[in-house]
Amino acid sequence: MGSSVAVVALRRLAVVGLLITSLVIFACSASDEPLVTRIAFGSCANQSAPQLIWNAITDFDPQIFIWLGDNIYGDIRQPFKLFGKERTIGPWKNVPRFIPASEQEMQSRYKRAKNNPGYSRLRQSTKVIGTWDDHDYGLNDAGKEFGGKITNQRLLLDFLDEPQDSPRRKQAGVYSSYTFGPVGRQIKVILLDTRYHRDPLFSDGSILGSLQWMWLEKELNGPPSAITIIGSSIQVISNLSATTGPLFSLECWGHFPKERDRLFRLIRDSKRDGVFFISGDVHFGEITRYDCATGYPLYDITSSGLTQAVEKAVPPPLHFIVRFVAWLTPTTMRVMGRNCRYKSCTYGEPNFGAIEIDWDSTPVAMKIEVRDVNGFPVTGVKTSLLELQTQRIDSVAAIRAEESQKYCTLEMNLPWIVRYRLAILFFCTLAILLLGLIGLTYAAISVSRRCLHKYKFD
Ligand SMILES: *[C@@H]1O[C@H](CO)[C@@H](O)[C@H](O)[C@H]1NC(C)=O
Ligand SMILES: *[C@@H]1O[C@H](CO)[C@@H](O)[C@H](O)[C@H]1NC(C)=O
Ligand SMILES: [Fe+2]
Repeated sequence: MGSSVAVVALRRLAVVGLLITSLVIFACSASDEPLVTRIAFGSCANQSAPQLIWNAITDFDPQIFIWLGDNIYGDIRQPFKLFGKERTIGPWKNVPRFIPASEQEMQSRYKRAKNNPGYSRLRQSTKVIGTWDDHDYGLNDAGKEFGGKITNQRLLLDFLDEPQDSPRRKQAGVYSSYTFGPVGRQIKVILLDTRYHRDPLFSDGSILGSLQWMWLEKELNGPPSAITIIGSSIQVISNLSATTGPLFSLECWGHFPKERDRLFRLIRDSKRDGVFFISGDVHFGEITRYDCATGYPLYDITSSGLTQAVEKAVPPPLHFIVRFVAWLTPTTMRVMGRNCRYKSCTYGEPNFGAIEIDWDSTPVAMKIEVRDVNGFPVTGVKTSLLELQTQRIDSVAAIRAEESQKYCTLEMNLPWIVRYRLAILFFCTLAILLLGLIGLTYAAISVSRRCLHKYKFD
């Protein structure tokens, strides 16, 4: 009798023990981070303009949204004046084209951005993170010399709801990293600060500064993650200025070749697989890849902007000119997919970036797209974690070798007639127009002379 009571008690204990164990296991897996399958990103949003694109972003239903800079336009643009007392354009200008706004003004612009109904709706269901670019840093094309950076760092972090006790509020610059998802299916997001420590343009100095480099080395050499997304406000792979100069120039890592090489070397030496870049700033969308940096293609998906886009700068009847120029501009790194909206595979209207990960397929598949204001893709790339792995010498690599070469030539190394064809066309057109004008003037003068002569004769 006594022994059977003991057995029952033991059994009960065992059941309770099992229950507790399963509860603990359940609690552990429940506290595990949820799997991330959809990430959206964007840049260049004018807080005073209608921001219709949030509807398409909300419909995509991202778990994470990443701001890549120019999240507001915080600086003040002076009117375009070629002549007069306050000239803002040309080598003879005497007033800067952009001036910083006051703290109160910055704050009210952030408030307007944050209260936008579309963005507010997104924030309810989506984790929002971000970094900055020049216009929210406080001044067009500014770098480390800019005086407003400490105040503006606080304002950006307020906008992003960074906790008051966050170390990010105490460091110099807004760089930061995040890890999402369960172990084995983790996504690391590294957001760079390309402004706070950046040496002057054309100095070939540093973009990140030594402290941020040390931090980045630690981040990339740290625990592995299936996917690593590096967010840079300015483009990393594309060096369009090499083919649009001397007509116009865009900020990018290419202007700091040593710094860019250091970044590629760091990724290669870290032996980290699954790394790609996302960027903004340029007011159009494009996807580029560079195959000669690490052992696998390094993609850079550029989405710009949420409201600011090159085609909006000209009246609709002239949009075809923008598209023609985009198509004519030589590029060596751009991914020319079959499914692009336009032949150039760039997109000059408002857009956002959409990353989708299919963790259940083997190998894990990824679709990265630039999408329009209605959520339809305008350019995109399908890749996998197998492709973003340092390739061993095998048949896959051999097949890819030929294709790979395509994305290895720097824009700088194009034959000059190709590299400068935009400028050549521009100056030829200008010359023809000028000749035409001279011809017309000459004709007009001679006709009026003849008339005058005839008149006198009569
Ligand atoms: C932002 O939008 C407003 C209203 O449409 C416009 O007046 C302003 O010039 C825009 N700012 C920029 C930087 O495009
Ligand atoms: C990018 O282009 C500029 C010229 O506009 C050139 O000075 C620079 O070296 C290029 N960078 C790379 C990495 O090719
Ligand atoms: Fe910018």
